Amino acid sequence: MGIQLAIPKETKEDEKRVAVSPETVKRFVANGATVTVQSNAGENATYTDSAYKDAGAKITESYSDTVKNAHVILKVQAPDAEELKDIKKGALLIAMLAPFTNKDILKDCAQTGIDAFSMEFVPRISRAQSMDVLSSQSNLAGYKAVLDATEFYPHAMPMMMTAAGTVPPAKVFVMGAGVAGLQAIATARRLGAIVSATDVRPVAKEQVESLGASFIAVEDEEFKQAETAGGYAKEMSAEYKKKQAELVEKHIAKQDIVITTALIPGRPAPKLISKAMVKSMKPGSVIVDLAVEAGGNCAAAEAGKVVVSDNVTIIGHLNIPSRLAADASALYAKNLLNLMNLIIDKESKALNINWEDEIIQGVCMTRDGKIVHPNFGGKPKAPAKTEEKSKKEKEPKEKKEEKNSKPESSGKTK
Ligand code: NAI
Repeated sequence: MGIQLAIPKETKEDEKRVAVSPETVKRFVANGATVTVQSNAGENATYTDSAYKDAGAKITESYSDTVKNAHVILKVQAPDAEELKDIKKGALLIAMLAPFTNKDILKDCAQTGIDAFSMEFVPRISRAQSMDVLSSQSNLAGYKAVLDATEFYPHAMPMMMTAAGTVPPAKVFVMGAGVAGLQAIATARRLGAIVSATDVRPVAKEQVESLGASFIAVEDEEFKQAETAGGYAKEMSAEYKKKQAELVEKHIAKQDIVITTALIPGRPAPKLISKAMVKSMKPGSVIVDLAVEAGGNCAAAEAGKVVVSDNVTIIGHLNIPSRLAADASALYAKNLLNLMNLIIDKESKALNINWEDEIIQGVCMTRDGKIVHPNFGGKPKAPAKTEEKSKKEKEPKEKKEEKNSKPESSGKTK
């Protein structure tokens, strides 16, 4: 019998996304899986129960009926402690668990004997790009941030020359030119704004300029070393932060819209805009703080709120990808399908996880009742499961080598 897959309805406030689309359900079913979707799981993402049914899913009413027999549970956000109780021991949970902020989730999964994969930890290697949820979701967030800004900005974005006078183009400043920031730059440019951007990673300079924006940064020795091997930013020194603040202070007073996206994985977001800087901006200016869930880049931002401070509107919406639930779900569902394709054996249609695979080691948080991820106290390498080991021992040598092979390229691709 194939794998039993369960997709419960998300329960967190403001979470409109869902972990499968009718398209991915069809693919799972074609691969021999039985797919159970909780009724209305996709209603906020434009996917009806009948669309899932037509794709081959079984629809169940209650949460517990959805998950109770599942081998694999696909979710967007982590289940709460109550929801975990209905999942059977040994099942695999795949979601964006946010273990840095959901402090108990890994302990709870380990105690309940659930193996948990957290999708935000997919390594940034070429082979895993199609599974990279941070990219798929941040890209949409960057786009939506610009539209959110336009909702509160009392001017037009493009320059307009009319008989009654000229409307000047908006000046947009993007802080943090990663996936979200680059999309925000592209979106603001499409709307006709004059765009500038900053980042601490030198590689961002060329990317910003290639989108037609100007790059503003303290380009000292520290800046040249600011990117980690994983492609993320390091926390900068107090001295760098001071120089950066001085530069930003001068620039920000002349901007109309500021979009902040600066994050450092596992750490609070760097504070880049002080209350004094907010005060220096023109009345009617808008700041969108996309880092608000990690503490915010702007000192005046409030999580989940739109506030006005010194005539400047500061938008601190939570969970921006959920505000584009249809596209965010479609892309997330594809990310999950690609990861599942890595762990479903095409011939036997059963789960066959290569625990030595770099991608699996990246995402695997708990296994066999223990937290195994090195970032959360686990040992760097998890031992192979006994039954898996005996299964592997029976496999032909070539197949074993193929599975354990390193990715063809581990270079970051932009
Ligand atoms: P992120 O969401 O962790 O951070 C957003 C941005 O904030 C980053 O560009 C970071 O450098 C910047 N930042 C951090 N501290 C800052 C500070 N004090 N001042 C100004 N900016 C600051 O990063 P994201 O967007 O998830 O990815 C970073 C980069 O990784 C991307 O730009 C991309 O080039 C690369 N990447 C590679 C992938 C692959 O090879 N498969 C997939 C996705 C991204």
